[in-house]
Amino acid sequence: MSDPSQIAPHGGTLINLLVEGDATAALVAEAANLPALVVGERELSDLEMLAVGALSPLTGFQGEADYHAVLDSMHLVNGLPWAIPVVLSVSEEESHRIGGAGAVALLPAEGAAAIAVLRVSGTFKRDKQKEATSVYGTDDGEHPGVAAVYAAGDVCVAGTLEVIALPAHDDFQTYRMTPAQTRAEFAKRGWRTVVGFQTRNPIHRAHEYIQKCALEITDGLLVHPLVGATKADDVPPDVRMQCYEALFEGYYPKDRAMVSVFPAAMRYAGPREAVWHAICRKNYGCTHFIVGRDHAGVGTYYGTYDAQKIFEQFEPGELGITTLNFEHSFWCNACEGMGSPKTCPHDESTRVSLSGTKVREMLANGERPPIEFSRPEVADILIAAMKK
Ligand code: ADX
Ligand code: MG
Repeated sequence: MSDPSQIAPHGGTLINLLVEGDATAALVAEAANLPALVVGERELSDLEMLAVGALSPLTGFQGEADYHAVLDSMHLVNGLPWAIPVVLSVSEEESHRIGGAGAVALLPAEGAAAIAVLRVSGTFKRDKQKEATSVYGTDDGEHPGVAAVYAAGDVCVAGTLEVIALPAHDDFQTYRMTPAQTRAEFAKRGWRTVVGFQTRNPIHRAHEYIQKCALEITDGLLVHPLVGATKADDVPPDVRMQCYEALFEGYYPKDRAMVSVFPAAMRYAGPREAVWHAICRKNYGCTHFIVGRDHAGVGTYYGTYDAQKIFEQFEPGELGITTLNFEHSFWCNACEGMGSPKTCPHDESTRVSLSGTKVREMLANGERPPIEFSRPEVADILIAAMKK
């Protein structure tokens, strides 16, 4: 049960869909006789997050009414805020094959043992065009999140999950903490306020700066890199984690900051995803959440601060987590320190600002970007990774 001294999970109860004890054997036996469905990488991430309560109050893949409520109004039918649909897509053929089955066994791969049983409440057509425009703000198939929606099956199978086992992972074992575990860790450390940081990129000085600014006003910092599916040209999670390890070693207060991984797949939905990221981190026990420049954005689909502005669409207190907004941060040679347009009075000419393309080019040539942009420890890890 949730600790009353901590922030309440979304909807009030931390969900746990993992069955325990004798029920497990019974579920395994039942699953063996059910129609089987192999779940893709992204949905597997969602299944894991559902299982451990990262998506509380959801107890399974969403049904048609919630799906449309989320698209239309960023709320569930029960009135709670929710920004990104969590659905299980199957092809028409698969939907015919599982037919009117009341339950299906979910498999992480062809021929693997079932890891969950889905109690099917219904099926419905995925409205991909509507989902693209309402969640992603574009129906452009070049957008990686929209492309993933288009590539998914046309039918959604909804229902409640009973989970036998979490999807197996052979990486980041010590960093894989459930919301119940991060909450327990925060309590153990005596942190009453905790700021969560979402990231899918290697850490640079601006990340470090906004994390530490936030930590000035909270008890603790949870650096929570996303390790689910990302687009092919993003830096892989193992390399990003090496960067965090190096930085934590040299520059972070260990009693005030920790790293754990966020198993979600990246949507690149910008503003909507920022809201969803915040809700998930509330479930992990964070009281605060950082939203910087172009949070969860890609290309030029979103305005620099759209992901901050979207939070104004909710009633005060409705989301139950406080967002900390940061403007585009950089090193300023005149200030001789990090800052943002909010705190630095100088013009562009004194600011150390590098495009992602430029940084990649330097790293590929074995060159460290300026130390005002990236710490050398991080640069060296990225250079080594690019050589492989
Ligand atoms: S993502 O999920 O938003 O795509 P990314 O690693 O790029 O991850 O950014 C992590 C967080 O840092 C986001 O909240 C983002 O808005 C913020 N951020 C990244 N770079 C800057 C910067 N230079 N100034 C301010 N905020 C930034
Ligand atoms: Mg970014």
